[in-house]
Amino acid sequence: MSRIPTLPDLGEIDGKRVLVRTDFNVPIDNGVITDDFRIRAALPTIEWLTARGARVVCASHLGRPKGQPNPKYSMEPVRQRLAELAPGVELMENLRFDPGEEGNDPQFVASLVDGVDAYVDDAFGACHRAHASIVGPPRTLPSAMGLLLQKEVDVLLGLRNDPKRPFVAVLGGAKISDKLGVVEALLKVVDELVIGGAMCFTFLAALGNPIGDSLWEPDQVDTCRRLLDDSQGTGKKIHLPEDLVGLDAGGHFATFGLRIPDGAKGLDIGPGSAAAFSDVVMEARTVFWNGPMRKSEDPRFAAGTRTIAQAMADTKAFTVVGGGDSAAALAQFGLDDDVDHVSTGGGASLELLEYGDLPGLEALRGAPNA
Ligand code: 3PG
Ligand code: MG
Repeated sequence: MSRIPTLPDLGEIDGKRVLVRTDFNVPIDNGVITDDFRIRAALPTIEWLTARGARVVCASHLGRPKGQPNPKYSMEPVRQRLAELAPGVELMENLRFDPGEEGNDPQFVASLVDGVDAYVDDAFGACHRAHASIVGPPRTLPSAMGLLLQKEVDVLLGLRNDPKRPFVAVLGGAKISDKLGVVEALLKVVDELVIGGAMCFTFLAALGNPIGDSLWEPDQVDTCRRLLDDSQGTGKKIHLPEDLVGLDAGGHFATFGLRIPDGAKGLDIGPGSAAAFSDVVMEARTVFWNGPMRKSEDPRFAAGTRTIAQAMADTKAFTVVGGGDSAAALAQFGLDDDVDHVSTGGGASLELLEYGDLPGLEALRGAPNA
């Protein structure tokens, strides 16, 4: 594996035009940015470059406009915030307004690198996408990873390659199928896996529990059963909820054991599970958390996620939180300063833990100055 070039490998940049791929895919509500974490996270790199006389032009995607201009996904709110935080820095329009971005079209790459002297990738959250702006510019331009990307890679590969044990991963979120590969890969590196969120219902169903109308994926039951069986052979512990809360068939708040009646649905882990999961986090020496325990944006179903967030803040373990929703949950509870690393990437952090590499990193290793 050849080296990934870092900022000093760009050489002299005074007066040069540097394209910085950032992940400014921030939540926007009615034209207002509700969390500017990803913009602030890119500032050290931007400042490093401007302090050395570079003319910085940033480029990012925002949302999923599917290759067409769409005012709903305009970069304008981001441009305004960036102008406050880093005056004088240019920002291109949403990369995904052009189908060439996701299609990794050589002509679109050519338009991106036109008039540009060097390329910096600081878009950790998008490095798992082999899109034009991620993998294209390093083919021809002197390139480097930015300070944010470097930090993310250090922390997450550190977890993957040399964690202090016990190493616990806590997985939640809304879907299971896109994360089953991760469950399998994580079981190779972690000692214990805690499963909440929508994912837990398919696992609970695999154990024969009635789950009512909870979100689940029937075609994944066999995979879940296999993962549970395999874990017994390897001595890895998979922790599943022992109680749940949600809505009964009449739409009223309800507490369930492990049997969710017909018409009812689980929307959060119950208090017993929250306490048990919290103990696992407290006793760990390394914890990686991705995904709320389920519907944490609804205050009735936030308790499980809040308990996990509090345990992340309280444990002596080295704590890493991956990505959008869990990072937002931490911020919502005012605990974002109390973990060791909040990653700007959700999918990217999971893929880096899973594969130990990302398309964006591979591209940088192939740069002419690498
Ligand atoms: C994210 O928010 O996960 C990243 O910005 C990547 O966005 P995407 O999932 O739409 O590719
Ligand atoms: Mg994503």
